[in-house]
Amino acid sequence: MIGVRKIVYACYEMPDPQQQAEYYTDILGLTLIEKDKDAVYLAHTIDHHAVVLRKGSEAKCVRLGFQIGPDDDLGAFERQTAAHGIKTVVKKDSEPTISELVSFEDPKGTVIEVFRRPEMLTQKFQRKGIVPHKLGHVAFHVTDVKAVTKFYCDVLGFRVSDWMGEFFSFLRCGVDHHTINLMETGSNRHFHTAFELRDWSHLETACDFLSLNGYKMLWGPGRHGIGHNLFAYHRSPCGLITELFAELDQMKDEALGYFEPRPWHRDNPQRPKVWAKDPSAANLWGPMPPEEMMK
Ligand SMILES: [Fe+2]
Repeated sequence: MIGVRKIVYACYEMPDPQQQAEYYTDILGLTLIEKDKDAVYLAHTIDHHAVVLRKGSEAKCVRLGFQIGPDDDLGAFERQTAAHGIKTVVKKDSEPTISELVSFEDPKGTVIEVFRRPEMLTQKFQRKGIVPHKLGHVAFHVTDVKAVTKFYCDVLGFRVSDWMGEFFSFLRCGVDHHTINLMETGSNRHFHTAFELRDWSHLETACDFLSLNGYKMLWGPGRHGIGHNLFAYHRSPCGLITELFAELDQMKDEALGYFEPRPWHRDNPQRPKVWAKDPSAANLWGPMPPEEMMK
């Protein structure tokens, strides 16, 4: 099958996209690359845009864009998707720099857009703000984690990296431990959007920079058990949660099926597994997420 290889962008609606755009440029350090009457496009270094903001009645994540391989056939991908009984639409020039994409809905109502891009569209690293390496993952609350997990695996080619019990799945489409994670909580909505930083010192600098600009940590810094990434969560101006992370587990080789060895792993080798619902799966350093994280 043709599977997606990379998340490229996430699109959000909110009452005040201008305020959110200032947060992305001045605090996170993304580049405002394009703006039209409806949308603001923000870039990191390897794509034309990683974040799209539009006006809406409430803050939510409405669309995700994924890239297939440069030699993959988008028409074949569409046929493969339609064969699952999914209604697909081909759109021309609906997104800046993307001439053609296949659009369909996932089971929780998020629009998925898949496209081919032979060339990377690189930008310079910004010089102000936190300046993440990239958009890393988007996490969602879902009402049926098994159904949505199956969709991402069967339709988009994701692989399961880990489960926490039967309620929280972590899915990869490349070497990164997770690009999508899904937690069953009784509603379908955005949980958090995560950007990758360099390392622990970058995370420290970012936490100080957030604090100087009036942003308090929601949870962390800490080190997750599942994925083993360093993490720190805060709430963005529109109310959606942002995670900054570093040192996420990397799948060494799909056939060999293990994550690159790290001294903080408890398993050696570390392989995909079902984790018990245990505090160390959430934070190896101890503190559990506050109630506020679930709002
Ligand atoms: Fe995360």
